[in-house]
Amino acid sequence: MSYFRPHEGVLHCEGVPLPAIAKAVGTPVFVYSTNAMRAQANALRAALSSLGDPLIAYAVKANPNIAVLTTLAAEGLGADVVSGGEYSRARAAGIAPDKIVFSGVGKTADEMRLALEGGLCQFNLESVPEAEMLSGVALSMGRTAPVAFRVNPDVDAGSHAKISTGAAHNKFGIPIDDAPAACTKLRDLPGLELRGLAVHIGSQLTSLAPLEAAITRLGAMIAHLRSQGHPLRTADLGGGLGIPYDPSLPPPPGMEDYGAMVARLTRGWNVRLIFEPGRLIVGDAGVLLTEVIRVKPGPVAPFVIVDAAMNDLLRPSLYDAWHEIGAVVPRGGEMIADVVGPVCESGDVFATARRLDRAEAGDLMVIRTTGAYAATMAGTYNSRALAPEVLVDGSDWAVVRPRRGSEAFLADETVPVWLSRAG
Ligand code: LLP
Repeated sequence: MSYFRPHEGVLHCEGVPLPAIAKAVGTPVFVYSTNAMRAQANALRAALSSLGDPLIAYAVKANPNIAVLTTLAAEGLGADVVSGGEYSRARAAGIAPDKIVFSGVGKTADEMRLALEGGLCQFNLESVPEAEMLSGVALSMGRTAPVAFRVNPDVDAGSHAKISTGAAHNKFGIPIDDAPAACTKLRDLPGLELRGLAVHIGSQLTSLAPLEAAITRLGAMIAHLRSQGHPLRTADLGGGLGIPYDPSLPPPPGMEDYGAMVARLTRGWNVRLIFEPGRLIVGDAGVLLTEVIRVKPGPVAPFVIVDAAMNDLLRPSLYDAWHEIGAVVPRGGEMIADVVGPVCESGDVFATARRLDRAEAGDLMVIRTTGAYAATMAGTYNSRALAPEVLVDGSDWAVVRPRRGSEAFLADETVPVWLSRAG
């Protein structure tokens, strides 16, 4: 069920009409539905309920806004973090240290220190050199670091090349066949305690088959390592389950099917399972609300120029991602148009030759399914502002991050003294 639905001809987020937000905050603006996130978190917990007491560690990178994290923390979710910044956010949102997993291929000594100081469930290590660095850091602090090795199972996730991570040529994890040697090496490194294995093969997966292949390989490796005397207690199955973006395509597999598959494959593993969902929890809980600046005639189809751009939402230009676009107050009729932003790049395109609600200058539109990997990937190219974020809960709403524009950016920049003296 979508939490963005029309009521008397006006698109609402839960109980709030979107034009009210646009009027108060301006556009472009990201609008998030609290209850959409809650519903996804609860549905996932239910789908995984036969698995004992799994840790659902929300992938903070998908949407790190502190209000979003606080909402998910209240639902009992932990956090999967990939930087010191994400670790600090998770803690600021009240997520308990033992619910935090630290992933990422390039953790620095400072980041390791931060997480060891504050506490965590485990570091997911991606190489032996990383294990060596962590061993040194832990020793210097007189601590023992709980760790898992992320293995690369060499499966084709079948997703976009830029968001696939589980093939041998990707930078992520250690080759699964090298895991026994790596674990033996780890035994000799003081300050580390091997807890388990982890795997994450990619994002926006639309089939369970590659996940099944990866989990099966992980299970075989856990059994092998145990036979070598490694008492593994956790298995982190990563995130990656896709969500529907284009309603004309078959939807990706649902959470229930995913949960049933995991239950079938992990029977008898005798580990605590960890999951790292990001997009699944927040993707459909957000829209990017934007205003049409003008409609410009084009050689094939008109250009609908909106005030959101690729700096606000990178996914279409970076991954050719498809996002549904519609009017907030449909004026009747349809058009076929290219929806573009104002940035001076030919790639600043949200949709090409798309059939959409007829639009005119001043109309509000939404770019849907932008709760994940949208605001967090925004930039300021063309000296554009960072779009604000609004959180809705029922008929309440609040700005949870204000717009930051030229004034704030200029305040951060300095002209060196030799230039200011010139002339
Ligand atoms: N765990 C790890 C180790 C990850 O690298 C990721 C995502 C996740 C969990 C969460 O994956 P999810 O459940 O959200 O699929 N910017 C791209 C997606 C990049 C995903 C990076 N890693 C996009 O907009 O599609």
